[in-house]
Amino acid sequence: MNKLIEAIDLNFDKYLSELVEFLRYKSISTNPTYSKDVKACASYLAKHLRSIGFKNAEVLDTKGHPICYASYEVNPTYPTVLFYGHYDVQPPEPLELWESPPFEPTIKDGQIVARGASDDKGQVFCHIKALETILKETGTLPLNVKILIEGEEEVGSPSLETFLIENEEQLKCDAVVISDTPMYAKDVPSICTSLRGMLYTELTIKTGKTDLHSGQHGGAVPNAIHHLMGIISSLKNNDGRVMVPGFYDDVKERTPNEKEELNRIPFYDKNYLRETGCDRIEGELGYSVLERRWYRPTLECNGIWGGYIGDGAKTVTPCKASVKISMRLVSEQDPNKIFQQLKKYLEELVPEGVEFNLDQISGVGYPVNVNNNEKAIEAAVDAIHTVHGKKPIFQGEGGSIPIVHDFKHLLNVPIVLMGFNLIEDKIHAPNEQFGVENYRNGIKIAALFYKNLGDKLRRPKK
Ligand code: BES
Ligand code: MN
Ligand code: MN
Repeated sequence: MNKLIEAIDLNFDKYLSELVEFLRYKSISTNPTYSKDVKACASYLAKHLRSIGFKNAEVLDTKGHPICYASYEVNPTYPTVLFYGHYDVQPPEPLELWESPPFEPTIKDGQIVARGASDDKGQVFCHIKALETILKETGTLPLNVKILIEGEEEVGSPSLETFLIENEEQLKCDAVVISDTPMYAKDVPSICTSLRGMLYTELTIKTGKTDLHSGQHGGAVPNAIHHLMGIISSLKNNDGRVMVPGFYDDVKERTPNEKEELNRIPFYDKNYLRETGCDRIEGELGYSVLERRWYRPTLECNGIWGGYIGDGAKTVTPCKASVKISMRLVSEQDPNKIFQQLKKYLEELVPEGVEFNLDQISGVGYPVNVNNNEKAIEAAVDAIHTVHGKKPIFQGEGGSIPIVHDFKHLLNVPIVLMGFNLIEDKIHAPNEQFGVENYRNGIKIAALFYKNLGDKLRRPKK
């Protein structure tokens, strides 16, 4: 058997308890109360990387949460791979739905249960433990490695683009590898070839200076909630199409070949309904579920408030109402352009005498499509093949990793998106988990990936 694989099995208990330690940090980036915990987590990571042989691992401050950066140069003439991940996590709320406390990692029924177990600390550790194993077994690495683990992915990576631009030279590499997506299913390993982009907005409607008595004035004055509802129902039609003019201008239709490829992926509506807990499937007319989730843009309301929502009845006509609206974008859609289109559409929809305010909240993310005809992808395919005994399928993903677009365009290198967790791992939700065996296989795949990539890209010494 492969020496690396053997060593990973041998050390796995240690690797598991080290992940547990990493998961204890409350690195919640969305809530400023936890800034210290976020920072402590970055320091822990840097220290840990130093302990496995990345001597120069350091914590770099940004305007927001710090970045953990490390590198290991074997030989300047060798190729270089950059691993990117994030150590920040989503808030754990609602706490009462967790079966064990979110920051007290628990291993139960073959699952590591904790906030961040899958997204993305567990997957980050697959790479760190893989590199540790290679270093320990061979005394060196098969290529130069740079590690960039940020603490702001879950808030749209607001500081990272500047960091990339300012450190372009230092970050130069031949490929980027990321494990922040799931595999397609338990027995269906996959490599992800596209991510949707993202635009997140908050819309507030104002119909007056104050709430009014709904008996005295109801029926004679505007009601902000009713106006907001009217606007929301004009955003999408009954065919599931977004009604913002120009919204689809930069969306490319999939070719018949691509559609056929997609139809070969095993997908069953019944299973999907069970997994999501929904009783019906909805969406844009004329597209399959996978197409809707991966290759079609969408607009979704994420939260809504206004008027009186406390206990009991309060008779009032509200003067203010708000909604959070996010959009997932595909192909060539530009989030900044879409924001302007939405604003213009609202200007037409909102009647005179009613005010609206549309803000962009959270950083924007451009959609990404990666080229799967690259040596770096081959290295991943071979690694997955060896560990799972079957080749991965290529799939799209509906989620967003905003910085990937910048990697692609600033560094101009191939991107490998290979994930090890499963769609049922409840990322962002209560009882987030990562399968113990997924962790083990992830370490193995990452280790073989680095080895294969070194073999494939290594140039002869000058
Ligand atoms: N790891 C996810 C992205 C992801 C999830 C990709 C599922 C593919 C499938 C990432 O941590 C994430 O949650 N991204 C946010 C981005 C946002 C906060 C800017 C998302 O997609 O909502
Ligand atoms: Mn993630
Ligand atoms: Mn996430």
